[in-house]
Amino acid sequence: FNVPTPINEPVYSYAPGSKERSLLKEALQVARAKQADIPMLIGGKEVRTGIKGELRPPHNHKHLLGYYHKGDKKHVEEAINSALSAKENWENLAWEERAAIFLKAADLIAGKYRYKLNAATMLGQSKNAYQAEIDSACEIIDFLRFNVKYMTEIYEQQPPVSSSGVWNRLEQRPLEGFVFAITPFNFTAIAGNLPSCVAMMGNVVVWKPADTQIYAAHVLMEVFQEAGVPAGVINLIFAHGPDAGDVIFNHPDFAGIHFTGSTAVFQEIWKTIGTNIHKYRSYPRIVGETGGKDFILVHPSADVKVANTAVVRGAFEYQGQKCSAASRVYIPSSLWPEMKALMIEDIKSFKIGPTEDFGNFINAVIDEKSFDKLAKYIDQAKIDEDAEIIVGGTYDKSEGYFIHPTVIEAKKADYVTMREELFGPVLTVYIYEDDKWEETLHLVDKTSIYALTGAVIAQDRYAIAQASSALKNSAGNFYVNDKCTGAVVGQQPFGGARGSGTNDKAGSMINLLRWVSPRTIKESF
Ligand code: NAD
Ligand code: ALA
Repeated sequence: FNVPTPINEPVYSYAPGSKERSLLKEALQVARAKQADIPMLIGGKEVRTGIKGELRPPHNHKHLLGYYHKGDKKHVEEAINSALSAKENWENLAWEERAAIFLKAADLIAGKYRYKLNAATMLGQSKNAYQAEIDSACEIIDFLRFNVKYMTEIYEQQPPVSSSGVWNRLEQRPLEGFVFAITPFNFTAIAGNLPSCVAMMGNVVVWKPADTQIYAAHVLMEVFQEAGVPAGVINLIFAHGPDAGDVIFNHPDFAGIHFTGSTAVFQEIWKTIGTNIHKYRSYPRIVGETGGKDFILVHPSADVKVANTAVVRGAFEYQGQKCSAASRVYIPSSLWPEMKALMIEDIKSFKIGPTEDFGNFINAVIDEKSFDKLAKYIDQAKIDEDAEIIVGGTYDKSEGYFIHPTVIEAKKADYVTMREELFGPVLTVYIYEDDKWEETLHLVDKTSIYALTGAVIAQDRYAIAQASSALKNSAGNFYVNDKCTGAVVGQQPFGGARGSGTNDKAGSMINLLRWVSPRTIKESF
């Protein structure tokens, strides 16, 4: 079988006056005109419980986008039973047939569903058109196409040696049981990838998206159904997380979890699985992509403009809500005056407002809880002696949850916003003396409790090599002279270690191998 070698999906620019922009505007209008009524999907059937949650755009919480139907423990059990009923037929389907379904899903998103899915991400998660396009169009399309390619390579892998009179084979079996997928609000691509890559390898899935992602998750499910994912293979539930966990982690057929979300929730889940380990048929696969406190380290040899662009884009695109976003930056004192001026100029030029106005670069943060948390850190920095707000520091939730892009200068390297994951447009910088480069390298590594992304900006090759070596365990994705966000599937496999996850690199063969359980067969003649 010849599966096409993928190329990364081209990014549409949505330039003023373009056909793409008017099609996206039309999709936004359609979505805004009609209130959605979003059911769960269990065993291929739409389930409406009548117990409804509201969906509102984070940038305009007065507008009701629609409702979703909440499930309870009973629905989680139904989803598990539907998954288990679908299992035999699905795993017996030739992998080429499964590949065809997911290649079709990629084509549907690239064509028919592109604008609808982007509009859902713009309205539901408050991404601007460009941020939606690179996520809910390009990245999910790439995940689907590259994963199919990696899948073929996995199924084709065989032991290299069969001695005379012996034939050795490797058979890749799906896991025994069902897999639970939990997806975060911040990437529609992750929502599409987690259940689909597990299902692609012949598994059945119960999928619970974050409540703030349900609008886009529903469109993704529509795509999967139209592409031919059979009933029961992916079951979409909207239950309270701990309730879903309570049913799932006590079930003997629980075979694995594909999680993206916070470190705290993942650690709780891991503990629960550990406590229940004797209840399961097999040791469950535990794959988690979790929090980050991503850094950019600027060397005295850096080109200040390159450093500024990396910091400003890395920290503020999608309001700093990418798991990869720069949130602590180390700058040498010799470069700080020039860099500070550039940063302030750029940040003050950002247009802030709702996503539907294509000129806005900064939109709202995801919800009131996140808004309040960020506002608290900002207010604290205003009174702390160890901190100075050098730009921003204001916020407004009258229409939507707008935190104005803020830079805090920390006077101490262990100031609270240098340590904790804030997940918003609040960046902290720490200025080090130029002759303290080596101490700063050590400091960055020592304080990297998380290890998701990091970048070094330098022109001095010795400094780059030194940073790469000293920080080898501080980031799963390390960038040289670039921002620390925007990993592209097929180019920079993505994932972190330490508190950032199990580093099973989303969109790679490493990840897909977690969803199969190989059997070795030796036949003697
Ligand atoms: P979250 O951890 O707050 O929520 C994750 C989900 O877990 C929610 O749907 C919640 O209902 C569910 N949940 C909570 N308790 C549960 C339990 N006991 N059993 C089962 N489910 C339970 O995360 P979020 O706000 O959705 O996402 C933001 C986080 O995701 C950030 O920390 C960010 O860094 C991280 N993230 C990481 C990556 C990565 O690749 N490392 C990518 C994207 C996001
Ligand atoms: N692909 C996303 C990024 O690297 C997660 O920002």
